[in-house]
Amino acid sequence: MKNIFANPEKSIAAKLIIATGLLIVALSFIFWFATLKKQENDIMSIALKYGGSFVEFAKESSRHSMLTQNNEQTQEILETLSTPEGVQGVRIFDHEGTVAFSSEKEDIGKPVNKDSISCKGCHTDPGTGTLLPNAKSWSVYKDTEDATALKLISQIPNEASCASSSCHLSPEHQKIIGFVEADLSLALLDEALFKQGLALTAYVVIFVIAVSIFLGIINYKIVTNPVQKLSDGMEKVAGGDLEHSVKIDSIDEIGVLASTFNSMITDLKEAADQKARWTQTLEEEVAKKTEEIQRTQTGLIQTEKLASLGRMAAGVAHAINNPLTGVVTFSHLMKQRCEPGSDDAEDLDVIIEQAERCAKIIKNLLTFARATPSEKGQIVVNNVISKTMTLVKNQEKFHNVKFHMDLTKDQLVANGDGTQFQQICLNMFLNAADAMKLRGDITIKSHQVEENGKPHAEIIFSDTGSGIKEENLPKLFEPFFTTKPVDKGTGLGLSITHGIVKHLGGSIRVESTLGEGTSFIVRLPLVEPTV
Ligand SMILES: Nc1ncnc2c1ncn2[C@@H]1O[C@H](COP(=O)(O)OP(=O)(O)OP(=O)(O)O)[C@@H](O)[C@H]1O
Ligand SMILES: [Mg+2]
Repeated sequence: MKNIFANPEKSIAAKLIIATGLLIVALSFIFWFATLKKQENDIMSIALKYGGSFVEFAKESSRHSMLTQNNEQTQEILETLSTPEGVQGVRIFDHEGTVAFSSEKEDIGKPVNKDSISCKGCHTDPGTGTLLPNAKSWSVYKDTEDATALKLISQIPNEASCASSSCHLSPEHQKIIGFVEADLSLALLDEALFKQGLALTAYVVIFVIAVSIFLGIINYKIVTNPVQKLSDGMEKVAGGDLEHSVKIDSIDEIGVLASTFNSMITDLKEAADQKARWTQTLEEEVAKKTEEIQRTQTGLIQTEKLASLGRMAAGVAHAINNPLTGVVTFSHLMKQRCEPGSDDAEDLDVIIEQAERCAKIIKNLLTFARATPSEKGQIVVNNVISKTMTLVKNQEKFHNVKFHMDLTKDQLVANGDGTQFQQICLNMFLNAADAMKLRGDITIKSHQVEENGKPHAEIIFSDTGSGIKEENLPKLFEPFFTTKPVDKGTGLGLSITHGIVKHLGGSIRVESTLGEGTSFIVRLPLVEPTV
């Protein structure tokens, strides 16, 4: 448990406990003081009541002996009356204030003390004899042993029997012939009062301690503990721990505060999670875009490279095309003049074959350089694929190749020259057949995809061939890159394909696993069919 009284100004519970504690102490003190005073007053009024009765009793007891002037008997009565414990003395004064009879014989004949209640209780000025309208008949004082004592007086009226008595000297107009005075010790009552005061003080102290402990516990349970949990929770949350929740089961204001705090943390966590998700999505998006930019940049460099190569190739092709036509034409003419089957005829066949091969290469070079004009029109993608597949599958090269078609039923139409797209398909099939060593499966899939919010036809040419080495992948679309023997491949097929795809506004990429196969993925932008 934290010491909340170390810095009470920082603790609600400490303030509450101190405030209620002070209130309890103040109220308890008032209660203690009032009760003590009340007890004192009650005891004093009882003492006065019994003291008054005692004085009246003394007066009545001595009445007869005084009427009959039996002084000895009067003196005896007073002495007897002073014997009980607590009675310190009984005296009878005459009307001039001289002790006529006293339980203490040595007091007889002494004058009354003018400052005592016996005198001042009735007279304003004891010398004049003027009587007070409300005579005071008692006073409290400290006796020689410092105990409380009560002095009581009672006037002896001048009765008719008294005034008429022959022995008596009191004239008829005299109202009072003397008074009885008694001194009673209140030492026992002092003791009782002291003990009661002590007990009351003990009760009040025990009450204050018990209530303070009880209040402390209640405060701890209801205020300190929940508030501490809340403040700990807030500290943890401020430190970044959004998993923390404050467990307070009560339904009071602190309970409501805790559940509001908990739901606030849940919202905060949700917001933080969402922020983290957004950040991650943003990072992924940035990475994707960066990759796209890099790809585009590589593509641009490639395109630029191909364009300059194409221009150069076109120039060379044009320059070689005419002499080559001449070589083939004149070779044919010479062959007609030779004897069929002769050595010369056979040599001329080789010349014609090689020249035609050169012509084919030149034709390819011209296609690559797009020196051959392309017709404007629309490509019905699935139709071209099917047509090309039908064309090639009867050729000897594809006798052991199995074609699998997985074409979408949607009509995929792109802008461009159908024969150019056919050339793409042809290149794909030829490369696949070569990679599979003329035996295996070719799968062609087509479907519609979205790219940059625009519809595209995606055509995937997959084979079960040798696959492509990792280091060859960046060079695939470069012109004259080939892994085939010199007389088998020119290395122009994929660069021509790349050129056509770019010309059609599309893209081409490759995915390959060495030893398992290759997939070329071609994308062409779709348009609304016009026919
Ligand atoms: N489907 C494929 N599987 C494995 N390798 C391939 C595939 N397609 C292309 N290649 C590789 O890419 C190279 C370049 O192909 P490209 O079509 O440009 O030229 P080529 O086939 O070698 O010659 P050409 O097509 O001019 O007769 C090939 O030599 C081959 O190594
Ligand atoms: Mg090829």
